[in-house]
Amino acid sequence: MSELRSIVYRTYEVFNAREFDAYPELLHRGVELIMAGISVRGLEAVTEFVSVTARANPRLRVEPLRVVAEVGDTVVTEVLMVDGSSSGQGAASAAACGVYRFRSRRIVEWRTYLDPTGEDLASAALTAVAAEQSALRRVAELVARQSPPDQVFSLVTRELGELLDAHMTRTVRFEPDGKATVLAATGRPIDRLPPGANISLPIHGVLEQILRTGRAARVDDYENVGGASGAALREEGVRSAAGGPIVVDGRLWGAMVVGARAGEALPSGTEERIARFAELTSTAISNVESRGEVERLAAEQSALRRVAELVARHASPEHVFAFVTEELRGLLDVELARAVRFESDGTVTVLASSGVAEDPLRPGSNVAIPKGTVIETVARTGAPARVADYSEVRGSIGEVLRTVGARSGAGGPIVLDGRLWGALVVGSTASQTLAPGTEDRVAKFAELLSTAISNLESQAEIARSRARIVQAGDQARRRFERDLHDGVQQRLVSLGMELRAAESTIPAELSEVRGSLSSVGAGLGDVIDALRELSRGLHPAVLLEGGLAAALRALVRRSSVPVELRLDLGEEPLEEAAEVAAYYVASEALTNTVKHAQASRAELSAKHREGCLDLVVRDDGIGGADAPRGSGLMGLVDRVEALGGKIEIVSPKGGGTRLHARLPTSSSGV
Ligand SMILES: Nc1ncnc2c1ncn2[C@@H]1O[C@H](COP(=O)(O)OP(=O)(O)OP(=O)(O)O)[C@@H](O)[C@H]1O
Ligand SMILES: [Mg+2]
Repeated sequence: MSELRSIVYRTYEVFNAREFDAYPELLHRGVELIMAGISVRGLEAVTEFVSVTARANPRLRVEPLRVVAEVGDTVVTEVLMVDGSSSGQGAASAAACGVYRFRSRRIVEWRTYLDPTGEDLASAALTAVAAEQSALRRVAELVARQSPPDQVFSLVTRELGELLDAHMTRTVRFEPDGKATVLAATGRPIDRLPPGANISLPIHGVLEQILRTGRAARVDDYENVGGASGAALREEGVRSAAGGPIVVDGRLWGAMVVGARAGEALPSGTEERIARFAELTSTAISNVESRGEVERLAAEQSALRRVAELVARHASPEHVFAFVTEELRGLLDVELARAVRFESDGTVTVLASSGVAEDPLRPGSNVAIPKGTVIETVARTGAPARVADYSEVRGSIGEVLRTVGARSGAGGPIVLDGRLWGALVVGSTASQTLAPGTEDRVAKFAELLSTAISNLESQAEIARSRARIVQAGDQARRRFERDLHDGVQQRLVSLGMELRAAESTIPAELSEVRGSLSSVGAGLGDVIDALRELSRGLHPAVLLEGGLAAALRALVRRSSVPVELRLDLGEEPLEEAAEVAAYYVASEALTNTVKHAQASRAELSAKHREGCLDLVVRDDGIGGADAPRGSGLMGLVDRVEALGGKIEIVSPKGGGTRLHARLPTSSSGV
């Protein structure tokens, strides 16, 4: 026997032996017992209720008949409730059906559908009860087999309708916007409100009462029930109705209603009978929902893992957000998803959108917070929000929403370090509104995302500060070079000229003095040349004059190791920052080749394509390049990464060195 069944069977033994101390091993702390329309919640209360019942019926015993079904976390049994000694004659007995749902190997939901036992049961009532029992059993079996809710809805609706011989029977789900969706309908309705219809609740009707009170309700006169759906019901011939709530995990989820025609009174107790069916329906729904929950959690977890991996691989924020919206769309099965960041000036920046063809709000665009949208509500409240109908949204954003076909939306805040940072929103183009709780799921996803985003933010911050440092360094070098050029260099040049002037005034007979002056002059010339060379190294003036191609050629010419140069820079313009970085990479790599590699030859190639420059410097030397040992290679890594590029150095001992830098040359690259 399976573990779950044996736990159920243990409860019968416990009851028969009146050993209720054993309940904590069998029942969940939050167990809910539902029996004959009474609901008792919590381990203590249930224990108390059962032991009081047992004391009141000292001869009552439970005899298990069979396990009707066991699927997943649910067991359905059939038992005989016997009031009398087990073999004694005249013992009253009644069949009962038990539905047990488990959580963490304890019974968390315990529903018993039983015939009232005893002599006061008229045989007509017995037949009715028997019919109800078998209808309930059929539903219970379907529930236990974890059938899809659609099937359960139509079966319960049909069974209930047949049992009550109702003119009309409907099962509905309450929607967050105060309307209801018809899930199943039977009887002889003229089908003004068919399954799938989204209806507003008939004013003063049964559904409205249930939504308000959360309890079973009846309305004996439908003449005064208002609204379009009230009129539709009257047209169907409905003159009175009764219904019961479907409560799933403590939340009012929907309702079942039956309607009768003029002259057909709904018998008293109809609400209770409906309530019994509604209960079974709830079990089916919470079964499916908890099953769905597990799958959903797994899907969410793996989506988050993929996002985290992407962040760890230093993907650009654009890339990460594009991925996030894509994942979200798949996860929630919606048509549209968007991520935005709130700016301090009251605008939003679109970070990514998925599922929006030819999006007028393309990533990177910055707009005023669109009025009447989910984004506005999230910005205002910092809480999950939904907008059931976008047709009311005015202005250009309304147009945008209609252009992309969005009809309703839901979203949640992205909160970083306690501050409202942005929002994730999803939209649906379907006529049906988004599933209940969508906004909470988006919000939960956004919450889980925030760690990844804060990593992303700090990475972006580091990249920005690196870029600032590198830029500041470049500026300092340029200033230094200018100072050398305009100051010291000019000063030396004019000193040289003064020296030559002085030299010319020295009489010919003082040839020795003249000779040494002239050699001082020559030395001064060398110093000027050296200084010029030095300042050229500080900032590659040749870059400004002849561009990257000219600058790389100059480097190759100056190298004492022969270098083969391959240039393929294409037609696209290169940003200055990328040119400068490429120049420094080539310069440092070739200098290292000369200084360390003992190479016989080297190769330099630069290729520019689609916003991306690949620069490779290779030598056939001794290898073993190791960035942490010096400052040159580290500086290159900083410089390249500050631009959002990547650098790779492969240098096995004895196997030569290959340095590959990939630089974005426009903001869309890499
Ligand atoms: N092409 C190469 N072949 C062999 N070894 C190399 C090569 N490039 C670098 N190395 C080794 O890696 C170390 C680090 O290089 P790096 O350029 O960072 O520093 P450096 O050249 O020693 O000093 P700096 O560049 O700061 O003047 C070098 O000291 C050298 O030992
Ligand atoms: Mg070096």
